[in-house]
Amino acid sequence: MRLDRFLSNQPQFSRQQVRLLLIEKRIRVDGRVVSDPHHEVRDFSRIEYDAQLLQAGKPARYFMLHKPPGCVSATQDPEHPTVLDLLDEPDKHDLHIAGRLDFNTSGLMLITNDGHWSRHLTQPQTKMPKVYYVETEQVIGAEYVTQFNEGIYFAYEDLTTQPAGLQLLGPCSARLSIVEGRYHQVKRMFGYFNNKVVRLHRESIGPLVLDSQLAPGQYRPLSPEEVGLF
Ligand code: URA
Repeated sequence: MRLDRFLSNQPQFSRQQVRLLLIEKRIRVDGRVVSDPHHEVRDFSRIEYDAQLLQAGKPARYFMLHKPPGCVSATQDPEHPTVLDLLDEPDKHDLHIAGRLDFNTSGLMLITNDGHWSRHLTQPQTKMPKVYYVETEQVIGAEYVTQFNEGIYFAYEDLTTQPAGLQLLGPCSARLSIVEGRYHQVKRMFGYFNNKVVRLHRESIGPLVLDSQLAPGQYRPLSPEEVGLF
């Protein structure tokens, strides 16, 4: 929300007063004087008028989880454990997942209460690279490298996937980097060659690599530096 809107919503200020307060530099956001009425404030912003606290700002929370296979990327599920069940945190209903993984996919998952941060991370325009370790049923041929780089046509969405980087590791294993997050994208890309993915593990999202200290099912908060990477 815009700062002037936030202030006008306060019962003690009229619109005209809001303009004056900003010009007189009496409003602070997160400790800094702000006079721009368009300045975006969020639930996490601390907003002060002189010495009076108008909004304390709720703490933003960011976690990295090593998702194990056999767990649903959802906040609730009637049958299976969910990734949120793995967190021992208060107010879990405030948290959401930034980029889902399939039931049997393991690896790096980011969880937060900051919608702005997670939107930036997951929206297709950001083209955030996601790196997966993949094992398949059949041998992965060199032609996959060219085809994945050129893109695979997905009839359902009527689109061709963005160029993806494939590094062959063994006859049936590879590392794949994709910049989108289409439904079952990796499985469908290998499906183009009728090759079934039997193991899928997300190693990294952008510059953030899954912490090797985290066993499957474990998680930890992100450091401010890690949050600021995005
Ligand atoms: N692609 C898939 O097919 N599954 C995942 O879980 C992630 C990417």
